[in-house]
Amino acid sequence: MGTFRAYRTEEINGEFVNSIKNIDKSVLDSDEVVIKVAYSGINYKDYLSSRGNKGITRNYPHTPGVDVSGVVISDKTNLFNVGDEVVVMGNDLGMNHDGGFAEYISVPAAWVLAKIDKFTLQETMQIGTSGFTAALGIKKMLQSGLKPSDGAIVVSGATGGVGVWGVQMLSKLGFEVWAMTGKSEVIPMLEALGAKRVLSREEIMAPIEKPLLRPKWAGALDTVGGETLSSLLKQTSKSGSVATCGNVGGMELPITVLPFILNGINLLGINAADTPMEIRKEVWALLGDIAEPSKVTAFCKEIALEQVDEALNQMSKSGHIGRFTIKID
Ligand SMILES: NC(=O)c1ccc[n+]([C@@H]2O[C@H](COP(=O)([O-])OP(=O)(O)OC[C@H]3O[C@@H](n4cnc5c(N)ncnc54)[C@H](OP(=O)(O)O)[C@@H]3O)[C@@H](O)[C@H]2O)c1
Repeated sequence: MGTFRAYRTEEINGEFVNSIKNIDKSVLDSDEVVIKVAYSGINYKDYLSSRGNKGITRNYPHTPGVDVSGVVISDKTNLFNVGDEVVVMGNDLGMNHDGGFAEYISVPAAWVLAKIDKFTLQETMQIGTSGFTAALGIKKMLQSGLKPSDGAIVVSGATGGVGVWGVQMLSKLGFEVWAMTGKSEVIPMLEALGAKRVLSREEIMAPIEKPLLRPKWAGALDTVGGETLSSLLKQTSKSGSVATCGNVGGMELPITVLPFILNGINLLGINAADTPMEIRKEVWALLGDIAEPSKVTAFCKEIALEQVDEALNQMSKSGHIGRFTIKID
């Protein structure tokens, strides 16, 4: 039956060790749909899984990788045809189910979505969970009634995977986007992506003791959490909306109820991994309308399976920009 290559995390004497292994193809029989992986992408969850975070992955050895685009090899349920181009993201892929840092995956049919025609397999993974999460946040912001004439929208962590897609897609929708970043050297790149202003992290931060400040923007797509999210909420104008997905800046939310009960701010929580299939289809339809991979290419770096470990290390230090995609040969 042969073997396939996978980036594996093993727990050896309490240490977590990563290497490329040859896995027996018989393991692929365990689930419904077998997919030959064309591309995967790197997300922060993959870093945590590969470094032994048991909140993400309970048992090792394990193959991380929460994102996959690829081609169906077989399907026990007959929902998909051999050769169909598909995408699998989130659910438990790469967490407690072997993930996409491999030549093949085997998954429940309920996790598999036909790739939309608008994007290639490569573009689908340039978008990946990052672009999907940004689009889910934008969908919720639009549903809350936010519109371009309401004022500026801040995107925090703007050079991160979610941030770059947020900047591009909100700009495409006609919003005035203010990109918040800790990297001054990328200002021209963020402007080329559509940002009207680029703000330093310090320019956003509000004094912790102040419950409210003068409103400066109509909403935000926040990928940072912690004091950044609290500062964004305190300076959002009445009835504005802030979508939150991340915690790279902290888990705590130091804030009073005043932005909510005096200004009527909507705090919109985003959970991409558990998005029901019907909503996933709607989000991909929105991505088809507003995501422009050609504009985000400068923020996407394509790597091989052998370079995954180095990319995960860069991600841990937030020194990277944009998104790593993995081309699986
Ligand atoms: N809820 C969900 O469904 C979901 C889905 C996807 C991702 N996420 C989460 O969303 C967050 C962002 O994901 P990502 O893939 O965009 O990550 P990423 O590529 O690592 O980007 C995060 C960005 O945040 C900024 N940043 C890092 N540390 C910071 C700090 N201490 N204070 C302020 N800003 C900081 C940096 O951008 P600048 O240098 O430009 O400031 C960094 O590039 C992560 O927490 C991730 O786990 C959640």
